[in-house]
Parts: sequence; C-alpha cells; structure tokens
Amino acid sequence: MQGTVLKILASRDEWLILSDDRQSIHGQFQIVTDLHYIFTVIILYQTALQNKPQLYLIAAMSENHVIGINNRLPWHLPDEWANFRRVTHGKAFITGSKSYTAPDALHSTYRNIVLTKHPTEQADSGVEYATDLDQALSLLREENEVFVLGGASVFVQTLPLADKLFLTIVHAHIDGDAVFPAISLADWELVSSNYHGSDDDHAYSFSMNVYERKGNGSDQASDGQPIL
Ligand SMILES: NC(=O)c1ccc[n+]([C@@H]2O[C@H](COP(=O)([O-])OP(=O)(O)OC[C@H]3O[C@@H](n4cnc5c(N)ncnc54)[C@H](OP(=O)(O)O)[C@@H]3O)[C@@H](O)[C@H]2O)c1
Repeated sequence: MQGTVLKILASRDEWLILSDDRQSIHGQFQIVTDLHYIFTVIILYQTALQNKPQLYLIAAMSENHVIGINNRLPWHLPDEWANFRRVTHGKAFITGSKSYTAPDALHSTYRNIVLTKHPTEQADSGVEYATDLDQALSLLREENEVFVLGGASVFVQTLPLADKLFLTIVHAHIDGDAVFPAISLADWELVSSNYHGSDDDHAYSFSMNVYERKGNGSDQASDGQPIL
C-alpha cells in the first residue's frame, strides 16, 4: 500500500499519502503511515460536510397570523421582545433583506446572513449576504443552531426545513400586510407555552409557545389543521 494517494476532499488543497518516507514529500501533502488513520480522517471530513445546523424559526403573530405592517411590527410588547432577545442571544440569524433593514429589526451580535438578490459590495461588519437559501444554509453549515428571523417570505421558504418554532401568539386580530404561513398541527408538537397578560406596557396578552417538529412531519398544511 505504500505510496497510496488519496485526495480526501475536492475543495481542500490537501492530500494524504500513505508512505514510510517522510523526507521526500512536502507542501500540501500530509504523510501518514497508518491506513486506519486515513479512513478515520475521511469519515471525519464526511461528517463535517454533512453537518446540518438545527433550524429554528422565531416569530410573533396575531391570532389571524399577521406578523407585520408597512415593514414594522404591529405591536410594542417589551416582555415578548426581551424573550426574543434572550432566546436568540449569541446565535446566527437568517433574515430577509426587508426585515433586516426594518426600523425595529433585531440583529445578531454574532452572525447575520441577509438574503437578497442584490448584495452590496461592502457588507457591514457581522453581515454576510446570500443570494438564495441554499447559499445561506451553506454559509451556516458549521453552526449548531440557526434562527430564522423572517420576514414573511423567508418564513414560507424555511418552515418545511425547520426543527423548532419559537412562536408567540398575540391574542388579538390585527390588520397587516405580512403573515406567518399556515402550520399543520399534524407536524408540530407544542412543548411549552408561557402566557403573559395585557397590562400598562402590553396592549395585548400573548403566549410564548415552543413547538417541535414531530418525527415524520412534512408541513403539508393542506392535509392537516392549521394551529390556531
Ligand atoms: N412578527 C415577527 O415576528 C416578524 C419577524 C420578522 C419580520 N416581520 C415583519 O415581516 C415583514 C417583512 O416581511 P417580507 O416578506 O415583506 O420581507 P422579508 O422576508 O423580510 O424580505 C424579503 C426580501 O428578502 C430577500 N429574499 C427573500 N428570500 C430570498 C431568497 N430565497 N433569495 C434571495 N433573496 C431573498 C429579497 O430581497 P431583495 O429584494 O433585496 O432581493 C426579498 O425582497 C415586516 O412587516 C416585518 O416587520 C415580523
């Protein structure tokens, strides 16, 4: 087996060479003397390539599924906002360009992947542009957890891929122009719910719900009931 050469990953400029002669080969060549080591490295690289972060959607919607109006949130709910910040703290975000530039947008202090067909040459620090969802997910493949922050167009695209929904239900019917997609109860299990009443600072009561995808959920809302 001496001299066996394996190009282990097309995108890496690195070769593993099985050889006892460590003197004569340099550069991007890594000399190994143990075939088992090569197989271990290949498996590790394959695992890294297949790494897929957990994808979480986080949103607040009214009982009629409204999430926004005129590119803003239709409510001011400080304790809901605080929960939003706490849950997403330090995580990477995927955000549509409209929501990212909204006046009340929440930005990640860690990584912001902004979906847009029109990336500007000079991104702000902490911002990476993606021109489609695949690119966004590829940029984030090393992360463990990624939050999708909306807006409506991005929630529609990512709901079928989501593992968990952090979905606050604002107990009111609100007018708006952006909505959260229908969700099939057959696909999602409510795992926690935290009710907050209305008060001087909160015009509406709301429930901060967390849903986990059931084992074989498919998000075919048409063949199940919507959540609310
Ligand atoms: N209540 C909540 O929890 C919540 C959360 C977030 C947002 N919102 C609300 O949602 C509303 C905004 O939603 P929206 O649907 O109008 O806008 P959006 O989803 O925030 O942004 C839409 C834009 O994102 C880009 N985009 C989306 N998908 C893309 C893809 N696959 N590839 C490349 N670019 C893509 C496009 O940008 P370009 O045009 O630049 O190409 C598109 O015009 C606002 O009212 C906001 O306040 C509410």
